[in-house]
Amino acid sequence: MSATGVIGMAPGEAVAALVSPAGRRDPYPLYEALRAHGPVIPVRPGLTVVVGYAEISRALRDNRLRVQDAASYDVIYPRWRNHSSLRGYTDSMLYRNPPDHARMRRLVSSGFTPARVAAMRESVERMVHRLLDRLEGLGAGGAPVDYIAEFASRLPIAVISALIGVAEEDQQWFRAMASDLTIALEGITNISRLGAADQAMDELAGYFGDLIEHRRRHPADDMLTALVRAHDDGGAGLGHDELVGNLMLLLTAGFETTSFLLGHGLRLAFEHPVQAARLRDDPERATAYVEEVLRFETPVQATSRWAETGMELLGTPLEGGTKVVLMLGAGNRDPRRFPGPTRFDPDRGDIQPLSFGAGAHFCLGAPLSRMEARIALPLLLRRFPALAAAEPPDHRDRWVGRGLRRFLIRVS
Ligand code: HEM
Repeated sequence: MSATGVIGMAPGEAVAALVSPAGRRDPYPLYEALRAHGPVIPVRPGLTVVVGYAEISRALRDNRLRVQDAASYDVIYPRWRNHSSLRGYTDSMLYRNPPDHARMRRLVSSGFTPARVAAMRESVERMVHRLLDRLEGLGAGGAPVDYIAEFASRLPIAVISALIGVAEEDQQWFRAMASDLTIALEGITNISRLGAADQAMDELAGYFGDLIEHRRRHPADDMLTALVRAHDDGGAGLGHDELVGNLMLLLTAGFETTSFLLGHGLRLAFEHPVQAARLRDDPERATAYVEEVLRFETPVQATSRWAETGMELLGTPLEGGTKVVLMLGAGNRDPRRFPGPTRFDPDRGDIQPLSFGAGAHFCLGAPLSRMEARIALPLLLRRFPALAAAEPPDHRDRWVGRGLRRFLIRVS
């Protein structure tokens, strides 16, 4: 999408263009077309979009704005209960509002502690080395290898499987199921494709049911055992469906998103060889590098909230039932917050991107995915000094989930 082609575009036109093939490929000029109308833009009755960094941050912390839940699905798509994938997700914290949300989040966090994540550091390093060995074998003699299929999507699944306690031999199956299930994370925007997500949900629910039973009989020092205990405590604990719903969420929320981060992280390293050399020579730089990748190519470009009753959001009146789309990818390129936002610059300092959201639903997996990328990217560059793109990357054809589908590289 060319920057000149969008000048003067009306908000409704720009929003519609975001889901066109050109907008999905390059949403950034459209964000600027929207920004010309201000940081909070009433697009039409029932729809407001927010593109400013400070305004998105405020909206995410405003508990009058609610996430999509069973009650709001009842209003917008009364037949949603026919879809097990949607039912499964509404049993997870991402689709719950107060007071349920805090209860679930507290219980899941008690199994997914920062200490448990930090303790995984060495095993993540081992997983990265193992996957690099694999890349070396596949790419021997200069053969092109798909970095997304062979590395960027394998690492997050291996890590989340280890965290949950999924056996290694089940991981490939698990990866395919997770991939189908993520369709349902886009809600009812793609009803025709929900069949695959429903099937994956049914199969995974059976798998998790067995795994839960196994952990109940053979407790271990892992997250699943902690969650099963929270479930079995009864009372304020997690119901069975809620336990399964939250396991599905952990599996899918962190899978593709982290692979997008790893995909863009390498693509940007090729485009910025000086930064790549610095990252390779000094892994300490990985923290800033990864934050800038998260800002520059935000893996989840948008999330939404609902105004349940009439309210005012930073001076803009919202009627009850208005959908508020928070464009994280636009906020991360807000020139009021990031001077020269179209420049990829890990040295800009104080990055704090909106990429993991903010407020009550702030991403529970942020420390884990940051750790994966901070370990993987420098090791990848160190291991293969001649690493290069074999072909330009192939982008996924989605707006919200912004990532690479395929990226052929040469490791030697
Ligand atoms: C680069 C990787 C990731 C990105 C960009 C990302 C992004 C996000 C965003 C934007 C939200 C907030 C959604 C909203 O407020 O509407 C979120 C929530 C969440 N994420 Fe992540 N995520 C990533 C990795 C992970 C990982 C690795 C896990 C778990 C293993 C995870 C688990 C969750 C959970 C459980 C929530 C819901 C929290 C709640 O509702 O309270 N995420 N994520």
